Amino acid sequence: MITTTDPRVAAVAIAGGHLAAVPTETVYGLGALASDARAVARIYAVKGRPADHPLIVHVADAVAFGSWGVRIPAYAHALAAAFWPGPMTLVVPRSERAKDFVTGGQDSIAIRVPSHFEMRALLHELAELTKDPAIGIAAPSANRFGRVSPTSAAHVIDEIGELLQGDDVVLDGGDCEVGVESTIIDCTGPNPKMLRPGAITIEDVESATGLKVTHDSTVRASGTLNSHYSPNATVQLIAEANIAFEIEGAAQGVIGLLALAEISTPSGVVRLAAPRNTEEYARALYASLREADALKLEAVLAVPPEATGVGVAVIDRLIRAAAGA
Ligand code: TXA
Ligand code: MG
Repeated sequence: MITTTDPRVAAVAIAGGHLAAVPTETVYGLGALASDARAVARIYAVKGRPADHPLIVHVADAVAFGSWGVRIPAYAHALAAAFWPGPMTLVVPRSERAKDFVTGGQDSIAIRVPSHFEMRALLHELAELTKDPAIGIAAPSANRFGRVSPTSAAHVIDEIGELLQGDDVVLDGGDCEVGVESTIIDCTGPNPKMLRPGAITIEDVESATGLKVTHDSTVRASGTLNSHYSPNATVQLIAEANIAFEIEGAAQGVIGLLALAEISTPSGVVRLAAPRNTEEYARALYASLREADALKLEAVLAVPPEATGVGVAVIDRLIRAAAGA
């Protein structure tokens, strides 16, 4: 495995049929050429992911989006114009380009135009190398199936480093700015449907489209399994007022606390993060869960942020993390 900060190195690897772990503004992805069945199969093998779970294909711009999807509704174009490049994924009926091995056999495809600087540079390099402006990088989050998503190159190496081969690449683009996965919106029906909350909110989608967002999608999304994003430590959501009660009788140094900075740390408890606002909470979330495991903590108590903005996604991931173990 080669670690680099040069997007060209990752582009050459991907064009050559190898894997590249790639930085995005949300979390790190494990990328391969979306048109290469063998490379995509390796993503599933490294992640330990069931083959019928579809991948997100990352492309350079909304024009490329049009080449992967068909019958794209006007509201999806409005969303693309409003929020791409950025932390939003759109699910649309697939074109010929999107093969079964990337859609898990579904007749829709999930597309995202990421905003991360090195990831964009990588997509442009890859388009040049392959002479295909609509070229796509299939990339799920670069964690083992059901585990915590990586938000730094070091997390990726911890998580899957041993499973990567000599010519595979880890593109180090620093810490992820958002920290939780993209908002996924099902655009296969008359109204946008929220499949997974992220930094782009329901309010954002409704104001960009003038349509009501619904939640009744029948499309499968593995990030929406009840148990996901789970560390080894148990995770428990609690109210600030209950912290003292929850830690009563616990041994020193076995419980971690994740809460906004304004909430103080009781003695004997390991403070995992003290974010000053909801955005910082999102950015610190997965690193904190990893830290809890590195410290072999038994439990993480999380006082969730308010359910506004990206806070909705943070609470969603905490609930799923709590359902694991
Ligand atoms: O922020 C993100 O979205 C990150 C970065 C790397 O882009 N990627 C990510 O990928 O979170 P992954 O594979 O961990 O989660 C993708 C989710 C899964 O829940 C998958 O089921 C859903 O997207 N998905 C993919 N294609 C779909 C489709 N055609 N219909 C419905 N859901 C789909
Ligand atoms: Mg994932």
